[in-house]
Amino acid sequence: MDDHSPFPATLRSSGDLAADRRYAWAMAALKDGAAAEAIDLFEQAAEIVPGWAPIWLGLGDAREASGDRAGAVEAFRRCLVLDAADRLGVGPRLARLGQGSPGQAMTDAYVASLFDDYAPRFERHLTRHLDYRGPSLIVDALDAVGAPGSGLRVLDLGCGTGLMGEAIRARASWLGGCDLSPVMVAAADRRGIYDRVEAASLFDVLGREPAASLDLVTAADVLVYVGDPDGLFAKVAAALKQGGHFAFTSQTFAPGEEPEDGIGVGADLRFRHGENRLRALGAAHGLPVIRCVRTWERRERGEPLPSLVVVCRRS
Ligand SMILES: C[S@@+](CC[C@H](N)C(=O)[O-])C[C@H]1O[C@@H](n2cnc3c(N)ncnc32)[C@H](O)[C@@H]1O
Repeated sequence: MDDHSPFPATLRSSGDLAADRRYAWAMAALKDGAAAEAIDLFEQAAEIVPGWAPIWLGLGDAREASGDRAGAVEAFRRCLVLDAADRLGVGPRLARLGQGSPGQAMTDAYVASLFDDYAPRFERHLTRHLDYRGPSLIVDALDAVGAPGSGLRVLDLGCGTGLMGEAIRARASWLGGCDLSPVMVAAADRRGIYDRVEAASLFDVLGREPAASLDLVTAADVLVYVGDPDGLFAKVAAALKQGGHFAFTSQTFAPGEEPEDGIGVGADLRFRHGENRLRALGAAHGLPVIRCVRTWERRERGEPLPSLVVVCRRS
């Protein structure tokens, strides 16, 4: 995902060649670390096409890179006015600047755009270049806590193209999946391993699940898109049978760096969750954490990212 364009196809041209050109130069300058030059070019582009949202997003990024946090917030807010559904990801940028609540920061439209665009190269990128191993870490963690190995009613949240589903299918008598990105869901469907897979928010799907109906809920590399997992824990707790498991991975903080509220937004615009906060949420929702292992789930620019593999059991 590190080389992934944040823009859905419809937002890749302003419709004006001169503005597009300045915008492209500005993006290149920003990438090279020339923030002042980028600001100048973004401002020129904004004079030509002030109503094209990506210019304001870029200007916000360039101002933030130059240390102008107030100017960055102002540009990001202009972007939000033009793209109210926030397909471009202003929310996590504002959250990173300490504005607004993390729980509201990532819109469904942003996540769906990101992954619709990313879907065609998702698996190859993850498995070949990022050494992604979320699903196998989750399966190993379930084995380590002695979770049942067959006949389970399982729901795979944020199923993507179905890598987690594939790893868990042999244990399931019924396997459901859901994902915000219709293109990812289509890929999961083609795998032919889900009994039901739908393009929908995990919150909606969990909310429709009958109470105490699931044996296992999985979420591999999904909490990075959930700003505040409190609502997630509440819905998972309601849908799980007593003794059922919730197994997930999460990007986290380096040891000793968890902030008081347990939530952070990284340079990559993904959320990090702290172990203390996750344990507290589990305890509060009748889903105590029974296993939490600090490890790495994938690499970014060659470096392993600090991650947690967590299993909770419904009490
Ligand atoms: C990094 S991918 C992981 C996919 C899959 N779990 C795997 O291990 O390969 C994260 C997925 O979560 C989905 N996602 C993020 N937030 C979601 C939400 N609120 N509801 C449903 N899907 C979501 C994204 O669309 C994306 O496909």
